[in-house]
Amino acid sequence: MAVRQLSKDVFSVGAIDWDRQIFDELIPLPDGTSYNAYLLRGRVKTVLIDAVDPAKQKELFLNLNELDISSLDFVVANHAEQDHSGAIPAVLERYPMAEVITNPKCKGFLMDLLHIPEEKFIEVHDGEELDLGGMTLKFIYTPWVHWPETMSTYLQEEKILFSCDFFGSHRAASNLYVEDECKVLQDAKRYYAEIMMPFRQQIKKNLEKLSLLAIDKIAPSHGPVYDRPSLIIDAYRDWVSDSVNKKVVIAYVSMHGSTQRIVDVLTSNLIKKGMTVVPVNLSVSDVGQFAMELVDAGALVFASPYVLAGMHPAVVYAAYLTNALRPKAKVVASVFSYGWGGRGAEQLRNMLSSLRAEFFEPVLIRGNMLDKDAGLLGDIVDRMGGLLSHV
Ligand code: FEO
Repeated sequence: MAVRQLSKDVFSVGAIDWDRQIFDELIPLPDGTSYNAYLLRGRVKTVLIDAVDPAKQKELFLNLNELDISSLDFVVANHAEQDHSGAIPAVLERYPMAEVITNPKCKGFLMDLLHIPEEKFIEVHDGEELDLGGMTLKFIYTPWVHWPETMSTYLQEEKILFSCDFFGSHRAASNLYVEDECKVLQDAKRYYAEIMMPFRQQIKKNLEKLSLLAIDKIAPSHGPVYDRPSLIIDAYRDWVSDSVNKKVVIAYVSMHGSTQRIVDVLTSNLIKKGMTVVPVNLSVSDVGQFAMELVDAGALVFASPYVLAGMHPAVVYAAYLTNALRPKAKVVASVFSYGWGGRGAEQLRNMLSSLRAEFFEPVLIRGNMLDKDAGLLGDIVDRMGGLLSHV
């Protein structure tokens, strides 16, 4: 991978991971990812902001070689997760004089996770500054994007914010800056949905804090750099806001077509009410796509056959994720297709205890739905239409 230059003394030296397909053994990466690291050459001090995943440390070192970096004063660790910090021990081995700058919480994580000795750290507190000689770094705590210790680093003279995961997107691309805004926004929304959505109240505070800064560029640690920061800041403001869209996400699985029929009827009737409807067939969709649809949905529907006396396991998984991600939907409905019985309805309600939404009474339909049963769905459609008519 080539070194890319943001300005005279600021370089992108991280690695692109074109082939990575899954993160945390959970999140699909349809577009690969990158682990961005930045090298800043001040008149007096040289700093590396974040490192890379250990699997890519060779590329980081090749890039540092290309810039003839024979000595390094500091490594700023904005975040302790190993896709950014994992190569720090190797960096310290190669540059034994380098010290790690981070906040106390992140320091504790790095000591636990990577066994970096305590004497290698310099702790910084929120708002503290560091003079590199003609370049001033300001450390700004931006926690819970998705770990509690994450901070951002702001290069005051050039108004560049190094935000780590915050504002990032999983996309492997050779361009340094955002080229296709729509694609990057989709990737960033997916990433926000997968790991940040449960912390939207805290992220609101982070956005308020950053609004006090003049920012010309946002350089995250995944995906391209934003040279039009309002693109991603405005998108985040929308995602973390309390407002929702007139959109219904239907998460479902069908074993023999009965639940599919229910979903088809619901979908067409909700469309007739003027809603945007997103049926998510859980047997073929990925969790990232599902999570992304939850970001701005006003209403959710879970539709499941009863199997083994409860919900289908794919719907159990979707409900578990939904509860963990805590989307801001205002309404939740459920429909179950059954043959003789089961306890899926109670199971679902118990699993969604974190949601602050209005729950409709579950609808249970026996066997393959007859036209007369379709009336049972009418209540869901009418009430959702009414509740979302004002959004
Ligand atoms: Fe990209 Fe939370 O690490």
